[in-house]
Amino acid sequence: MKLNNLKVHYPIRSGFLNRITGQVYAVDGVDLNISEGETVGLVGESGSGKTTIGKIIVGLEQMTAGQLIYQGQDISKKRVRNKIQYNKDVQMIFQDSMSSLNPRKTIYDIIAEPIRNFEKLEPIAEKKRILQLLDIVGLPQETLTQYPHQFSGGQRQRIGIARAVSTNPKLIVADEPVSALDLSVQAQVLNFMKQIQKEMNIAFLFISHDLGVVRHMTDNIAVMHYGRIVEKGSRDAIFNHPEHIYTKRLLSSIPSIDISKRE
Ligand SMILES: Nc1ncnc2c1ncn2[C@@H]1O[C@H](COP(=O)(O)OP(=O)(O)O)[C@@H](O)[C@H]1O
Ligand SMILES: [Mg+2]
Repeated sequence: MKLNNLKVHYPIRSGFLNRITGQVYAVDGVDLNISEGETVGLVGESGSGKTTIGKIIVGLEQMTAGQLIYQGQDISKKRVRNKIQYNKDVQMIFQDSMSSLNPRKTIYDIIAEPIRNFEKLEPIAEKKRILQLLDIVGLPQETLTQYPHQFSGGQRQRIGIARAVSTNPKLIVADEPVSALDLSVQAQVLNFMKQIQKEMNIAFLFISHDLGVVRHMTDNIAVMHYGRIVEKGSRDAIFNHPEHIYTKRLLSSIPSIDISKRE
């Protein structure tokens, strides 16, 4: 997956006529490459454009300019042959599992939704698949008939992960997947994501404002600042020899760099 010169500008409206009086340059010329099975970290402070990039990749937002290339085709074009395949291959895990999981649906229906969108499985095969997914994310079978509010934050994030991997995706965009969790649960969920990624050979775009979390998860890191990538490099290069002043500043504000020591 490749982004070429991505731009996302939002109009600013004001006055009672609601006229467009300016633009927010949420993303302003970003190039990003994610190879098969790789984890790329996208870091930067709040408002730097990270979520907007994630939304573009999963098709939740329209780009102003640029290209999104997947398997040799520009997915941002209207008529693309492999768009359905793309939507199946690219999934998202959200920060806020409480609002991203439908409160009126059972865990069974939540996990089954993406499968039903892309495959027609017989009920027995579907159930088998869902039990398998529950098992992968370490939740007991009895939970299938329960609702999101009956789970802890960490468990809900596991449900979100089961849902995201249900279509056997090639790429998952994880937007601040542990930021809403207690520090003591963060390492657990992160390790678990890492394990699944390895087993299923899924590429990750791992979005976080927290460099400690990103260091634990990623191979390569891109640092964002005001809609642009100011520095890119291997994890070790970014941590050991940060070049941009903004990267240095981010590094100095990590709560605890070793996430297993967070409590
Ligand atoms: N739908 C929108 N309309 C207008 N401005 C937006 C919209 N979504 C995001 N923005 C603005 O774009 C910028 C980048 O936002 P975002 O991608 O959410 O940053 P991050 O995820 O790094 O915190 C921010 O200034 C934000 O206020
Ligand atoms: Mg965000």
